[in-house]
Amino acid sequence: MNIEEIKTVGMAGAGSMGAGIAQIAAMAGLQVKVVDVSDAVWGRAEKTIAKSLERIVKKETITEDEMKAIQARISFSTDVATLADVPFIFEAVFEDVNVKKELFNKLDAVCGENTIYATNTSSIAITEMAAMVKRPANFVGMHFFNPVPMMKLVEVIPGLQTREETKLLALEMAKKIGKTAITCKDTPGFVVNRLFVPYIIDAIRLLEEGVASAEDIDTAMKLGCNMPMGPLEFQDFAGVDIGYHVTNIFYDYLKQERHAAPGLLRNMIKAGYLGRKTGRGFYDYSDK
Ligand SMILES: NC(=O)c1ccc[n+]([C@@H]2O[C@H](COP(=O)([O-])OP(=O)(O)OC[C@H]3O[C@@H](n4cnc5c(N)ncnc54)[C@H](O)[C@@H]3O)[C@@H](O)[C@H]2O)c1
Repeated sequence: MNIEEIKTVGMAGAGSMGAGIAQIAAMAGLQVKVVDVSDAVWGRAEKTIAKSLERIVKKETITEDEMKAIQARISFSTDVATLADVPFIFEAVFEDVNVKKELFNKLDAVCGENTIYATNTSSIAITEMAAMVKRPANFVGMHFFNPVPMMKLVEVIPGLQTREETKLLALEMAKKIGKTAITCKDTPGFVVNRLFVPYIIDAIRLLEEGVASAEDIDTAMKLGCNMPMGPLEFQDFAGVDIGYHVTNIFYDYLKQERHAAPGLLRNMIKAGYLGRKTGRGFYDYSDK
């Protein structure tokens, strides 16, 4: 299969990532068939896509008519069987091995032998996921960043079983939908999170050691390195539990002390200080 033959793509999962991927694929002229568990989920995704497209119309990079045409290319169903004839399917359902496995079992039951599956998982090994499906050679990781329409990068990750053609097709797909791709080996965190998470963990260590206050660490990185957010602000935004979970994955895989969760991080989890979502993390959000 070559990229020109692909006119329709599937999108399993219409959450933050799925809605974004559906949008950019439709913007690239592809028909997009989205599947999620309920019409209510799709209602939310449709609104997110509409808002994002309206912003693009305001910037005058697309017209209102183009916006309507993009929206018309996206269809939705709760039935996985609607993806039966789709040659290339993106997956962005919950980050849970069992949920993903159940979905791929359903897809395997209806899809053809040439269908490509591209997972957006952040933390499950691509090789482990490829082992869940009938044709692991057609399985590849395509790791997008949030918000998808804004973030230019995709990490393309072949598993041990991925065929070279599948990887090349994923690279071409990334280009077709307007992204810049890099490739990397199937290792925890791929490239971006492998570098970014230890940076955040080091910021937590600096705070723990009393080197500087949370505010000063964040100000230092924003004004000294032009980071849009400081590392501790970012961790509160993304969820302190997420940082803890990911650094534990690195530690289990790499067995390097530098990936061990700092005591402060462990204690924050015990205290329920999970960041913005619980009203308290490195900062207090109780009045917000
Ligand atoms: N949010 C991020 O910043 C980010 C970044 C990169 C990668 N990812 C990865 O993308 C994937 C999705 O993340 P998200 O943040 O969009 O999650 P999300 O919770 O916003 O969305 C997940 C969606 O999957 C749907 N879903 C669950 N089971 C399903 C099933 N059986 N069939 C169809 N749909 C089903 C849910 O209803 C939900 O709409 C995860 O693997 C995550 O690791 C997330």
